[in-house]
Amino acid sequence: MRKNFISFEGVDGAGKSSHIPWLAQQLRLLGHTVVETREPGGTPLGEKLRGLLLNDEMHIDTELLLMFASRKEHLHRVIEPALAAGHIVLCDRFHDSSYAFQGGGRLIPEERLQALDQWCGGVRPDVTLLFDVPTEVAQARLMGNRESRDRFEVEAVDFHRRVREAYLDRAEAEPFRFKVVDSTRTMEDIRAELSAWVLKNYS
Ligand code: TYD
Repeated sequence: MRKNFISFEGVDGAGKSSHIPWLAQQLRLLGHTVVETREPGGTPLGEKLRGLLLNDEMHIDTELLLMFASRKEHLHRVIEPALAAGHIVLCDRFHDSSYAFQGGGRLIPEERLQALDQWCGGVRPDVTLLFDVPTEVAQARLMGNRESRDRFEVEAVDFHRRVREAYLDRAEAEPFRFKVVDSTRTMEDIRAELSAWVLKNYS
């Protein structure tokens, strides 16, 4: 079975987003229909929730619930129909972000995440590309655009360390789903690795 549901993950500043349109193009050149989407967001309602989540102060449980509200809408309206039609879905962040940011970063107990995750159907990406960089490197990249930082990006360095640890723990626990990409390398090196991976799995 082809791995049609691909999520992209990483700490803020890991540099994942620039690779998504490029990867979509590689897959289209191989003849696939590709849907590019993101969380929080991906639907008209989800994009409104994204605006609130990235900018407005709220209780950490409210944040968690809104992340999953956005996800439910996204699954129902975009992801599940696209997968049913045989399309490839490239999703910029999915459930691992909740485990890493709300679980690892905000220290919300894992059982709460699991309950919401199951409630939303427990859907899993077939493959998750985790763009990994040391926290210091990611922080230095974020400092570059200081004016436009959102509510997560301005969190203390310890928060970002915990997020990274949570991601690495998840990758270790599920090595068949995760592909960890060393994102300290140059764009060319990363794309050479991704290109070989695409050819091997999607041609
Ligand atoms: P991101 O997708 O990285 O966008 P940009 O590159 O424009 O900053 O930002 C989304 C933020 O939302 C990111 O800091 C992680 C956070 N997030 C969570 O905390 N939990 C979640 O479940 C999701 C999907 C995202």
